[in-house]
Amino acid sequence: MALNMNNKRPIKAMDDKFSELITTEMNSFKSKIRKPIKRLSENARVSHYENQLSKNIFADINCPTDSEGNEIMIRVKNLSKIFGKHPESAMKLLKNGMNKEEIHSTTPNTVGLYDVSFDVKKGELFVLMGLSGSGKSTLERCMNRIIKPTSGNVIINGLDITSLDEDDLRAVRRKKMSMVFQNFGLLPHRDVKNNVAYGLEIQGVPETERMEKTKRAIDLIGLSGYEDSLPENLSGGMKQRVGLARALATDPDILFMDEAFSALDPLIRADMQDELQRIQSELNKTIVFVTHDLDEALKLGDRIALMKDGRIVQIGTAEEILQNPADEYVCRFIKEVDRTKILTAGTFMKKPRGVIQASQGPRTAIKIMEEYDRNNLLVIDKGNHLIGMIESDDVLNVIKSGGVLNDAIIRDIPKVGIETPMKDVIQIMITTNFSIPVVNENDVLLGVVSPSVAAEALNAGGDL
Ligand SMILES: Nc1ncnc2c1ncn2[C@@H]1O[C@H](COP(=O)(O)OP(=O)(O)OP(=O)(O)O)[C@@H](O)[C@H]1O
Ligand SMILES: [Mg+2]
Repeated sequence: MALNMNNKRPIKAMDDKFSELITTEMNSFKSKIRKPIKRLSENARVSHYENQLSKNIFADINCPTDSEGNEIMIRVKNLSKIFGKHPESAMKLLKNGMNKEEIHSTTPNTVGLYDVSFDVKKGELFVLMGLSGSGKSTLERCMNRIIKPTSGNVIINGLDITSLDEDDLRAVRRKKMSMVFQNFGLLPHRDVKNNVAYGLEIQGVPETERMEKTKRAIDLIGLSGYEDSLPENLSGGMKQRVGLARALATDPDILFMDEAFSALDPLIRADMQDELQRIQSELNKTIVFVTHDLDEALKLGDRIALMKDGRIVQIGTAEEILQNPADEYVCRFIKEVDRTKILTAGTFMKKPRGVIQASQGPRTAIKIMEEYDRNNLLVIDKGNHLIGMIESDDVLNVIKSGGVLNDAIIRDIPKVGIETPMKDVIQIMITTNFSIPVVNENDVLLGVVSPSVAAEALNAGGDL
């Protein structure tokens, strides 16, 4: 027995020693391989994202279209976000008709969004507008799933991203979306080119390709020559250009911009708005643009969603909202707008009453003038192209002298396009006393804006 005990001890001691040795060696080995393994797994993850994206996530998914066949890039369906504990009870109260204010004062919850639904078309610049706290940022962050909605769906390009796991979600975000922030979000120790390259780096894009794409984005945004500058040496406007270039470098389908120009001086801000419009006409991205500034919304938005207390009060084009404000709140919101700046000739043009073709005779011209009780007429050719205008005195002189209608045509007359702001049409009208023709890019006559209609536009602007 004693012998046995004695025999066992050295064996146990040897076992312990051996086990200690193995553990130490294993730990040392593990620590040596941990970093490469981590790197390997990150790389694997990048390619996993790529695979997920190219093979699984969007494969076999059809992008929905609207009734006119436009692709819908983002579909938001009954989206709600309640901040605080027990959001379900707040949701119930909302369903029963309680408003945001009442929920806030009677429960520990805040309503960020409630039952928001809309579509954003591919290539659309969609503006979310509203007063502070109305839910713009919450909505945008739910759309890119930076925050998780309490209920409802966000469907990107046909894919419901509300049900994705973290990996897939990250992959969708990296490939499909970019963000531009109000405070620029630049990395202070990186120069311009490396800030612009950041998103590509995260995507695991190889260096040569990364640098090529970075250069393209830098050129596009007018930052050439500043590649090596650090953010601290750039003005606010330049910093935001870097932010925009970084967002565009990854060539995302969707750009989310939250008050991106709000921190800029008015003139720089106007420049950046112009720049965004120029880039948009070149790249045709889908852009969700948050602003609390009505002028900015009206200038940039293909459509605007006006928000209040976490809900959308009205969605429409600038003209639709200005012409038919949905309620008192919208009326108050747009009160300050000079409508003649926003409304265009296209809104106010009417079918021209009485035109004449150049090939017709002067006597016919007088007859048409009598019929419509006017002393001038627009002259068109067979293809409806605008040629000019005739006035009754000149036509009578032509008849007296035995000439043709052509001799009486005044060719150099003012004309406008459908996009011309009414402000400019009214300016022209001040110097003339006839209806202003509205033509397309080929000079085809589309309509006329008469002085009485222009007065109506002015009055409407004053009334609001
Ligand atoms: N993390 C949060 N926790 C609690 N409440 C929040 C949170 N984030 C937003 N809210 C609340 O949700 C509502 C909507 O806020 P949100 O930031 O979306 O408004 P906003 O329209 O973007 O305003 P601003 O123009 O000031 O940026 C507000 O009542 C806000 O207080
Ligand atoms: Mg906000």
